[in-house]
Amino acid sequence: MRVVEVRAAVFALVVGFLSLSAMAGEAAFEKVCSSCHSGGFKGMVTGAPNVNEREEWQSFHASKNEEEMRQVVMQGLNDHKPKGGCKKCSDSEINAAIDYVLSVTK
Ligand code: HEC
Repeated sequence: MRVVEVRAAVFALVVGFLSLSAMAGEAAFEKVCSSCHSGGFKGMVTGAPNVNEREEWQSFHASKNEEEMRQVVMQGLNDHKPKGGCKKCSDSEINAAIDYVLSVTK
């Protein structure tokens, strides 16, 4: 392969990987987090910020950085269960879900 072809192949791989992990994050979010974070009844009861309402997240982004938010979700805090309550979810699944939340709420 020529250099240009190698570059194109690497580029395609990276792009493929990035969009795959973004999809994995959204899927994990739908599975574990959306019951509280998509503005439904459970969201209303728990007071969880809705991912479709960027406004609701601004006070969270103002008071915590990404790492601190990750810690809340991973280890739990007050009403937030560790990993959003999904004991059998892997760290990478939850991290992908957090990435998704951050990407749509910032
Ligand atoms: C049982 C309901 C529930 C589930 C399920 C849930 N959350 Fe939350 N989440 C909350 C509530 C309530 C808050 C607000 C906590 C607070 O008042 O600080 C919150 C806050 C957050 C925050 C902001 C943290 C902070 O304090 O700055 C992030 C990020 C977040 N959730 C991500 C997730 C992700 C990712 C998942 C799925 C893995 C998830 N949540 C699942 C209820 C839930």
